[in-house]
Amino acid sequence: MIKLEKVTVKFSKGFLKKGENIYALHDISTEINSSTIVIGESGAGKTTLARVLLGLQKISEGKYFYNDINVWRNKRKALKIIRREIQYVAQDPYASFNPNKTIGESLGYVVKKYYGRKNYKEKVIKLLESVGLTENEYYKYPHQMSGGQLQRANIARSLIPNPKILIADEPTSMLDASYRVSIINLLSDLVKKGLEVIIITHDLAIARYFANQIGGAKSLILYKGRLVEEGNFENILKNPLHPYTQFLINSIIDIRGETKEIKLNDDNVPPPINGCPFYPYCSFRREICKESFPTMKEIDNHKVACYNY
Ligand SMILES: Nc1ncnc2c1ncn2[C@@H]1O[C@H](COP(=O)(O)OP(=O)(O)OP(=O)(O)O)[C@@H](O)[C@H]1O
Ligand code: SF4
Ligand SMILES: [Mg+2]
Repeated sequence: MIKLEKVTVKFSKGFLKKGENIYALHDISTEINSSTIVIGESGAGKTTLARVLLGLQKISEGKYFYNDINVWRNKRKALKIIRREIQYVAQDPYASFNPNKTIGESLGYVVKKYYGRKNYKEKVIKLLESVGLTENEYYKYPHQMSGGQLQRANIARSLIPNPKILIADEPTSMLDASYRVSIINLLSDLVKKGLEVIIITHDLAIARYFANQIGGAKSLILYKGRLVEEGNFENILKNPLHPYTQFLINSIIDIRGETKEIKLNDDNVPPPINGCPFYPYCSFRREICKESFPTMKEIDNHKVACYNY
């Protein structure tokens, strides 16, 4: 079980702008204890969140608990557990494999690292079969595979340590449309077999398909490093509360079978330093939104951070 308490990750903007920080994640508090969808546009902090959960990104403020262990207080012990129990599938399967090694060699290397040389080839072939590939792929180089096949091999490799949680960061965004559904089906099958999958995506159609396949998923909506809404995906889709979520849902092609025009401000107001990052665009904004970020409120079975409620 993952618990984040007021987690902030900030990066310095560089020496020219000393003292100025980019908040990749800002004061995030949440719990993740089942398959989850993390949604947000580019720069929202999605990959940074994945890196925090994987123990690859140190947090600037706050606390990260994994199974009640305060990770950065018990660094050695916790990171050892996390690095095995939480695995990552990156967006670009082509960049994830050594082009000069066959898939069998790449996966074999990891199998040998965890389980020794004995029967490693059989283990790799079994793994390939478990993700819908065959022994043929064992002998192929990455350039001889389709993007969809390679992403399957990528997922197979991440399963080698027998993780409890798999974080798939935009797992379909580099793939042709025809492969996207099959990769989400594979991830959904893994959920049905007991794996907890955290899917990161900017694509609401992918999010909806995954949520449907697994019978509902928690979702976190991130906007410029802030958690603005969280709850069951279907609830959020039916009744988005945060003005950003409303905009996001209405800007995609008629996903709910109806469209309601969402008006955005476009008057070049700068984003406030401490307030709500959606302030420049929000048609509901008021003075207080500039001064501080609202706390999360529970409404209609999900949670929202907005002064409009
Ligand atoms: N190592 C770093 N140094 C400086 N800034 C960083 C670093 N990593 C991330 N950032 C900044 O933090 C913010 C969040 O980045 P992140 O990569 O987490 O976003 P994302 O939601 O994954 O975006 P994308 O959809 O484009 O992958 C961005 O403004 C990014 O430029
Ligand atoms: S907090 Fe204010 S600015 Fe931010 S989304 Fe809500 S109403 Fe708009
Ligand atoms: Mg990213």
